Amino acid sequence: MKISPSILAADLTDLKTVLQILEGKVDFLHLDIMDGHFVPTLSFGEVYVKLLNEHTQIPLDVHLMVDQPEKEVPKYFDFKPFNITFHYEATNFPVRLAREIRKQNIKAGISLNPKTPVELIEPFLEELDLVLIMSVEPGFYGQSFIPFCLDKIKKLKDFIIRKNLDILIEVDGGINKNNINSIKEAGADIIVAGSFIFKGNIEENIQCFKINY
Ligand code: DX5
Ligand code: ZN
Repeated sequence: MKISPSILAADLTDLKTVLQILEGKVDFLHLDIMDGHFVPTLSFGEVYVKLLNEHTQIPLDVHLMVDQPEKEVPKYFDFKPFNITFHYEATNFPVRLAREIRKQNIKAGISLNPKTPVELIEPFLEELDLVLIMSVEPGFYGQSFIPFCLDKIKKLKDFIIRKNLDILIEVDGGINKNNINSIKEAGADIIVAGSFIFKGNIEENIQCFKINY
């Protein structure tokens, strides 16, 4: 299972140090782009991501929590992230958008809020490379894991296996050393963690994650 720390929960005033600590120890850098409309919070955008990208080799995992993602997605093409993930709830054109992302040789991801059933994306799963299951309501770090999301991960894993597809399952929100194992067992390939990793000693927390799964 791969780790993608959410830098939203890091010390954003000292990101160079944070990036130095993470380099070589984690698989992706999870970037929570929030527009203040789709979610109540406003975080950072492509200008900040450009600067950040100049200071790290870690592949970028872009999570767009924005309305009308079709306008935002192209702004991230130049950074050649590993994936660009937009929300199912934010667009009427998920297939077109996924195809646009794939055309850039970037993995196309779709994210589902806790209330959104995985059955809704089942018909067009083959258009996707990654599904991000939100295990908290998006908008803030530091919330607690919503247990019914485990069933969504299992159901999605079943769809993927039954259709024999190559799709990564990423899970985001409220993950810590106590629940990481059940999330892995449910079928997660990538876990996002913010507060668990960045509260206290970052290296020790990453290590603690690794020995707990
Ligand atoms: C929530 C974000 C998450 C969040 C994770 O809107 O998408 O990535 O920062 O932080 P924790 O692990 O603290 O829930
Ligand atoms: Zn996120």
